[in-house]
Amino acid sequence: PLVSMRQLLDHAADYQYGLPAFNVNNLEQMRAIMLAADRTDSPVIVQASAGARAYAGAPFLRHLILAAVEEFPHLPIVMHQDHGTSPAVCQRAIQLGFSSVMMDGSLLDNGKTPADYDYNVHVTRTVTSFAHACGVSVEGELGCLGSLETGSAGEEDGVGAEGTLDHSQMLTDPEEAAAFVAATGVDALAIAIGTSHGAYKFSKPPTGDTLAIDRIRQIHARLPNTHLVMHGSSSVPQDWLKTINDHGGDIAETWGVPVPEIVEGIRHGVRKINIDTDLRLAATGAIRRAFATHRDEFDPRKYLGKATEAMRDICIARYEAFGAAGKA
Ligand code: G3H
Ligand code: 13P
Ligand code: NA
Ligand code: ZN
Repeated sequence: PLVSMRQLLDHAADYQYGLPAFNVNNLEQMRAIMLAADRTDSPVIVQASAGARAYAGAPFLRHLILAAVEEFPHLPIVMHQDHGTSPAVCQRAIQLGFSSVMMDGSLLDNGKTPADYDYNVHVTRTVTSFAHACGVSVEGELGCLGSLETGSAGEEDGVGAEGTLDHSQMLTDPEEAAAFVAATGVDALAIAIGTSHGAYKFSKPPTGDTLAIDRIRQIHARLPNTHLVMHGSSSVPQDWLKTINDHGGDIAETWGVPVPEIVEGIRHGVRKINIDTDLRLAATGAIRRAFATHRDEFDPRKYLGKATEAMRDICIARYEAFGAAGKA
């Protein structure tokens, strides 16, 4: 059934696990996520960005998610609006039937310019007041995601802050987080703890301190009943980068957030882990390999089927690693 995010994250907190939240734009991603959840008996959070709605159209996205609810009635599914840029966007998502919305007031409604604290509180409180009246959960964000390594927004495809961030914007302040939750009543809070969106997170191999674990611990200590969310949580699998580049691709050296570090974050209060890039990489690698190895094939179901399997296997690995398997 369709459930609110609060229901799933409360359960995750009670049983000390984390839930991956996968972005969905098309049929293959939706099926990959559901096949993985079905195989591992995991609760599901699927999220749609503004870019997803522009790509697929709101009615198709809505019915894709409703089709998942219909085909897998034994699994709880959250239909979440990712990175809503204004209260109006969140209101429209609720009208479409989303059971959870993110009001990202860390940025102005252009989705790029860092916003001040008062603006963030104002728009987020506006959303919680109407969303909660409809039984819909709300995720807020405090602190701007960017690359701690370079001080840049670290985003190649338009989601995230533009320009250079100063260091204080890059890690969420625990006291400010407590005040923000008290002022807005959000169910879940996305925090800046060293990650950034997209494939180009880190230019060197990780050495075990990718995430600001101390900061997670401090925020969780101040906000034991608020579910912490980690955006930019793709691990950027090196084997998929190699598969892409071995079959005609040209992706620069780059690293993501290692799964064991995410698991450490979960131990300290992270409950929702946003993943998009890993599925994009797996799909691209699988399709490039299918094209190169079956050059006479032209049935899209063949190569898209390989993409679905590749994405499904990433989802299975995350459900298992984060402890969500068996919790549906
Ligand atoms: O947070 C961003 C997600 O990866 C969605 O990206 O806006 O390109 O759909 P998108
Ligand atoms: P990645 O780019 O690391 O997959 O992050 C996705 C995300 O945070 C969506 O909101
Ligand atoms: Na989100
Ligand atoms: Zn995000």
